[in-house]
Amino acid sequence: MLRSKILATGMYVPPKVVTNNDLAPMMDTSDEWIRQRTGIEQRHWVEGKVATSDLALEASLIAIKNAGIDKSQIDMIILANLSPDHEFPGTACFLQKKLGVPGIPALDVRQQCTGFIYGLSIADQYIRTGTYKTILVIGAEVHSKGLDKTPNGREISVLFGDGAGAAIITATEVKDPKKDSYLYSTHLHADGTFAEELWVPSPGFDTTGDRLTQQMMDEGLIYPKMNGKNVFVHAVKRMPEAIEEALKANELKIEDIDFFVFHQANLRIIDMVAKQFSIPEHKYFNTIQKYANTTAATIPIGIDEAVRAGKLKKGMLVASAAFGSGFTWGSAIFRF
Ligand code: UT7
Repeated sequence: MLRSKILATGMYVPPKVVTNNDLAPMMDTSDEWIRQRTGIEQRHWVEGKVATSDLALEASLIAIKNAGIDKSQIDMIILANLSPDHEFPGTACFLQKKLGVPGIPALDVRQQCTGFIYGLSIADQYIRTGTYKTILVIGAEVHSKGLDKTPNGREISVLFGDGAGAAIITATEVKDPKKDSYLYSTHLHADGTFAEELWVPSPGFDTTGDRLTQQMMDEGLIYPKMNGKNVFVHAVKRMPEAIEEALKANELKIEDIDFFVFHQANLRIIDMVAKQFSIPEHKYFNTIQKYANTTAATIPIGIDEAVRAGKLKKGMLVASAAFGSGFTWGSAIFRF
């Protein structure tokens, strides 16, 4: 049967490391608060004129190299991000220009923390139908330029880091469904009832006047706003639900999964999810300490880091789940 598989991955974070102590004088926060409440120790932030497409390019080049393919073999680009280079056109177009692969479709996915799983799912549909053979799926974010770095923004701004992760998804003819490497399934969800629980109100076109005004800037509406407690409550419910759904669809038990790659928003969320399923620590791997929450980039960064750390090995059955703004959530199960 024709299915898709993750052939190779790559990741990139900008060189500048920003520690919790670096943020303390800006935001009236402390290393102790951030570590205790989130598990984050540091994050990487870009310097100068570096955009989401630049980080995406670096990660993509590594993934292409690791896959041993030529960029001319890529049939489609899918780039998940919430921090676009410009309002339009989509950032996938800027990445396409930098990568030098004109003509193929370039699609932006705007599903925040679940963006990579949405992108993977879209790629899978195109591959299963035989439309495309090789798709570059990326999650990339430059959060640092859009955060309120004053005490007003401290509840959110300490949480996010910049980075990119990329995966080369290719068609594969599955002969042994229990042993071969392929994407078993993706399950996607959203509930727009909660769209304003984690969002950036402005600029936007849902206004009576101009999309961006001085008043919006003065009121700080151009920065992300979050009802952190409500997001937390939904995250610890929705991620396990998405995993249960995927297990059921594939007639698997939690013990069958060799490795888990969870979205990294808060170490406490991950621990609570792992505890619900009694997942032993050696079966998952956290990156939040080093990179904080890199939103759409988190899952591909997690896969790539776990591979390079020797934790995620070829042939393992992997479950991944994410939850974030929208609200959006979803899961994927694949044999690596
Ligand atoms: O990937 C997207 C999805 N995002 C998430 O999943 C995030 C989900 N939410 C969370 O992770 C947590 O709710 C936060 C980490 C955002 C906040 O943790 P919390 O334990 O819910 O803290 P809190 O909002 O209840 O705040 C506790 C206290 C407050 O002070 P008072 O009112 O108790 O005096 C806050 O003002 O901590 C204060 N506070 C801070 N203090 C120092 C909030 N942010 C900070 C900060 N530094 N950065």
